[in-house]
Amino acid sequence: EKGGYDYFMLKEIAEQPKAVADTLLGRIDGAGSLTLDEVRISAAELREMDKVVIVACGTAFHAGLIAKYAIEHWTRIPCEVELASEFRYRDPILDQQTLVIAISQSGETMDTLMALRHAREQGAKVLAICNTNGSTIPRESDAVLYTHAGPEVAVASTKAFLTQLVACYLVALYLGQVRGTKWADEIRDVIRDLSQISGAVERVLETMEPVRELARSLAHKNTVLFLGRHVGYPVALEGALKLKELAYMHAEGFAAGELKHGPIALIEEDLPVVVVVPSPRGRSVLHDKIVSNIQEIRARGARTIVIAEEGDEAVVPYADHVVRIPATPTLLQPLVATVPLQVFACELATARGNEVDQPRNLAKSVTVE
Ligand code: M6R
Repeated sequence: EKGGYDYFMLKEIAEQPKAVADTLLGRIDGAGSLTLDEVRISAAELREMDKVVIVACGTAFHAGLIAKYAIEHWTRIPCEVELASEFRYRDPILDQQTLVIAISQSGETMDTLMALRHAREQGAKVLAICNTNGSTIPRESDAVLYTHAGPEVAVASTKAFLTQLVACYLVALYLGQVRGTKWADEIRDVIRDLSQISGAVERVLETMEPVRELARSLAHKNTVLFLGRHVGYPVALEGALKLKELAYMHAEGFAAGELKHGPIALIEEDLPVVVVVPSPRGRSVLHDKIVSNIQEIRARGARTIVIAEEGDEAVVPYADHVVRIPATPTLLQPLVATVPLQVFACELATARGNEVDQPRNLAKSVTVE
């Protein structure tokens, strides 16, 4: 059932282009507009929403962090993202004009379920983004948008994450579409870019051998840091989470802009630091900032592992290793930038002799607190 792969995780990483394409399937029509029939909250209700709150745990929370950038950019509705375990124990401000989005692969995560109950009690509408048909979270929500990743067996989430991102982009674009925001032209372009993204994920997968080699060469290390900006910041958090879970290494993700506020003190000779570099096209200010961050950490001895777009030559002088990803619009970059980090963590786990599909102390679905 592992389809010729040694681990479910490897199989699930390889299935990502299909999972992404399947999650888009039937939801974009030939004219480039969105149909999301499973969203059973009416367009009229969605037009009234004045706030979006996303609740989730773990990897699904990272998808939510990325969704915030897309939702606020395409819809101009304020969006908050919160760990379900924090949200459920505070006194959040919610009403009928709040759209709560609960993201969960399994649909059974206790904290996310309790967070959505808490939200509904206060009159908020809840939309679930879920991978498991008929599970508790979608059953208890007002509406659901299913991700079509297929069953995910490995404890470490991979293909579910990419499809959660796709679903979040779809929700953001749909909200933008029904609310008729001034970004209509951009929305059409993004829909076109999204429909080509599974090919880009495929291309990343074809070029992963150097990443595996690099991972093996770092198997003796204790710490790896991850840096990003904008949507690259949650990607850095996700890269660090994968490494903790699988390689049992100390791994931390930081917003690159925070370096000088503390984390730069951690940099020492030969410390591996993975940096997710935004596209040099478009919001080039982000790109230039991160290039100077790479310069700063390299000057202090870090071994820089740079995830950068094909053709981005500005990073080369400061990179010990460059991992190339295809060019994508800034907001969609996490769909391609996360893949090398999954491969990196999986290979490090193998090199360290760890159990890849069933890491110690972890369960696939956390149905207790
Ligand atoms: O089933 P869910 O998406 O609600 O699960 C949430 C987290 O438990 C999950 O993403 C966890 O962090 C993964 N092991 C990450 O790889």
